Amino acid sequence: MWKQNLILSSLILFAGTISPAQNQDTPAVNQLVIIANHAGPVISKDIYGHFSEHLGTCIYGGIWVGPDSKIPNTYGIRNDVLFALREIKIPNLRWPGGCFADTYHWRDGIGQQSQRASIINTNWGGVTEDNSFGTHEFMKLTDLLGCDAYINGNVGSGSVREMSDWVEYLTSGSGSPMTKLRKENGREEPWKVKYFAIGNENWGCGGNMTADFYNNTMKQYSTFLKDYSNNQLYRVACGPYGDNYQWTETLMKDEESRNMFQGISIHYYTVVDGWGYKGSATKFDEREWFETFRLNYDIDRIIKGHKAVMDRYDPMKTKGLVVDEWGNWFNVEPGTNPGFLYQQNSLRDAITAAIHLNIFNENADRVKVANLAQIVNVLQSVILTKDEKMVLTPTYYVFKMFRVHQEAKLLNTDLRCENYVFGDKKIPAVSASASLDNEGKMHISLANLNPNKEIVITCPIIGDTYKTVAGEVLTAKEMAAYNSFEKPEMVKPVSFNGFKLKEDILTITLPPKSVVVLELKK
Ligand code: AHR
Repeated sequence: MWKQNLILSSLILFAGTISPAQNQDTPAVNQLVIIANHAGPVISKDIYGHFSEHLGTCIYGGIWVGPDSKIPNTYGIRNDVLFALREIKIPNLRWPGGCFADTYHWRDGIGQQSQRASIINTNWGGVTEDNSFGTHEFMKLTDLLGCDAYINGNVGSGSVREMSDWVEYLTSGSGSPMTKLRKENGREEPWKVKYFAIGNENWGCGGNMTADFYNNTMKQYSTFLKDYSNNQLYRVACGPYGDNYQWTETLMKDEESRNMFQGISIHYYTVVDGWGYKGSATKFDEREWFETFRLNYDIDRIIKGHKAVMDRYDPMKTKGLVVDEWGNWFNVEPGTNPGFLYQQNSLRDAITAAIHLNIFNENADRVKVANLAQIVNVLQSVILTKDEKMVLTPTYYVFKMFRVHQEAKLLNTDLRCENYVFGDKKIPAVSASASLDNEGKMHISLANLNPNKEIVITCPIIGDTYKTVAGEVLTAKEMAAYNSFEKPEMVKPVSFNGFKLKEDILTITLPPKSVVVLELKK
């Protein structure tokens, strides 16, 4: 009877999904109801994507050391980074920016490396960019990673011809001046390019355009981005920052425009206390810890706002939302170049990653791609390098733990949980999502945001029976624990046994400030 009531009330709840921000009242029990026999949309693996910009030491030093380096490398790409990224099953990599993309002229980065033009990286520190890492090197990187390429074209300071030539150079197998040039540069076969963005932040660093102006410009550019030799481009139109729904509306309401792209990007960074003093990545108090997560949760409201606009013009959900820049943005580490955006990464960032990835999973019907900013040595990185040393960050381990959700089916869940209260503000203390993979295994990912108390949560599993559970937990003694070059293993996942499964009810004890991923088998 109890179970029947639960099923009924769960089904009623699923008629309208409850977003974390609406979850205001602290319930007597913490409960995550999971409907195991009613799978939702597939969670696109590309939600677990990454972003590499010519910024600071992301590319140079972080990924590319050149074939003559003492650092072990494959065709100039450092091996330690390659192996670590393969482990997290990186699905796609965005390049060359960011703001850099709208200053990048791809022909500067092809041909003999010694002959390539040097330019000034005007966005990031004014340093000289020698273009030794260009199209061929990037495509080799994606090849070695076994991931898809996400290339960001230059609208701001480029031309239609330049962009259309780049796509032809990359993907065409026919005889043409562009394919001839590619072959002269050593690549016979065309590459596959999955994602291609038509500009970046064109409302800002990408040209300071209005939505209407960009919309028209995007249509012109997109007209000349052809699908060559069985390559099908997923064209990403530049979308807005945060909750500027008007920009999305401008692109979506125009039918001609809708035929010109497959996805719209949005960018959202968590910046505690505003863009001036953004706080330290490792020296913070509980107020900053709480504020980080309060702002992280906002991505759910922002996604739902854009979804509402898109649903009006595209109810069949043929267009994707591409969250191609997200993450925590703190002050740079003391003594580092302010233009290089180099920050450490703590347990707080790991929980941030879990919150975002759970929210992307939950919005899998519309969010098709997402890219953490950025992959190595910039902002909320998964990897930090210093000369020949490499450190895997707490964020890296969350991507490793959550990789089980890639291409799995989202399960309907209903989360009722207590709040984490700080001062006069409160946020849901638990973040969660669940999926079913194609071998019938269920994965549940959870985070306990409260640094001061463990949370016991019961998960009634409706509609199917599971026999075994195994899991991993990521936590640490200190909120600001991090992995340094001296102590690289301070924050690492370990095996977790804080659960009980009895009569289809899973009870989990989440340690304070932790991320947990569980695998259930029949
Ligand atoms: O990720 C750093 C910068 O943030 C990107 O270059 C730009 O797109 C955004 O403003």
